[in-house]
Amino acid sequence: MSKRYQEVIASLREEPKRWLVTGCAGFIGSNILETLLALGQKVVGLDNFSTGYQHNLDEVQKTVGGDKWANFSFIEGDIRDLDVCRRAMQDVDYVLHQAALGSVPRSLQDPITSNEVNVSGFLNVLVAARDAKVKSFVYAASSSTYGDHEALPKVEDQIGRPLSPYAVTKYVNELYADVFARSYGFGSVGLRYFNVFGKRQDPNGAYAAVIPKWVAAMIRGEEVIVNGDGETSRDFCFVENAVQANILAALAQPEGVNQVYNVAFNARTTLNELFQYLARTLESQGVKYDKQPVYREFRAGDVRHSQADISKAKELLGYEPMHNIVQGLEVAMPWYTQFLR
Ligand SMILES: NC(=O)c1ccc[n+]([C@@H]2O[C@H](COP(=O)([O-])OP(=O)(O)OC[C@H]3O[C@@H](n4cnc5c(N)ncnc54)[C@H](O)[C@@H]3O)[C@@H](O)[C@H]2O)c1
Repeated sequence: MSKRYQEVIASLREEPKRWLVTGCAGFIGSNILETLLALGQKVVGLDNFSTGYQHNLDEVQKTVGGDKWANFSFIEGDIRDLDVCRRAMQDVDYVLHQAALGSVPRSLQDPITSNEVNVSGFLNVLVAARDAKVKSFVYAASSSTYGDHEALPKVEDQIGRPLSPYAVTKYVNELYADVFARSYGFGSVGLRYFNVFGKRQDPNGAYAAVIPKWVAAMIRGEEVIVNGDGETSRDFCFVENAVQANILAALAQPEGVNQVYNVAFNARTTLNELFQYLARTLESQGVKYDKQPVYREFRAGDVRHSQADISKAKELLGYEPMHNIVQGLEVAMPWYTQFLR
């Protein structure tokens, strides 16, 4: 754990703050919620359960226990409603804005709803945070903003053209955040997540991410479908690394504010390698999968390779990812085997 993260955690334990986590019933939001409550923080959660679940909140309650759960208050509501966003901001110190409609294919299918939630909803949360004069505003950006820029590893100030409506929405978030800094002096930090994975990532539905989708298929003895030749690569980021980045970003020093950061591990894993890692990790948990993957067409809107340079987050935030993909899979797998069997 970096020295900076140790300091931040110690100061939060000593003097707990009040946080707003939007999208708290979702995958990343519920992991952030769990860590903040475990640190004795007060948390307001906002979610409309469009892609998140009550059972994620129930699981956090069970993990952190009654006393700490009492520090949580939940608002079921939609970020497309400005009044709801204003209500959620009351007396809040730090905002971690995670609520959005994820998934490139979903945005290709229904660009209007993705835009309403990810752009208009984002703007509502930003305006409400500005007006409530919160101490800091951190939001989930995305590696999809690199679009067709081919350089590897990705550095924050070199982006290409977006390859999907989803990528447009996430880039617009960055543009609004930047304009709010210059127009209103309202500071923020954007975190460009790269393929986050871990417990509570939804394995079901048409828009499931590759790791939970494949793990579910393997546990159920079904076919694993690879989009393309399997040599597509990603910088898979264990969710605890993303949680760490959020907490560090909320307490960033002045030079770290009004920036966007890559949040990843800085490694490149092909889908074929991922398949091997998953089979191996599952086998160590007593689940044997002996089928071969089935290769299909490449998927529209997907970038071919992705790997992040994370030196900016290391330098300005003190970010130090603690799990690589294999370590992260080892931590996450018992959750999947328990919940999917
Ligand atoms: N998971 C990844 O690899 C990844 C990568 C890049 C960026 N992101 C971004 O990270 C954030 C969290 O993603 P996730 O993977 O946890 O997804 P998720 O779908 O599990 O979580 C999103 C949460 O937001 C809630 N939500 C959606 N629309 C809402 C609305 N209109 N009002 C209130 N709540 C709403 C959902 O119900 C859900 O609980 C998103 O902004 C996503 O775009 C994720």
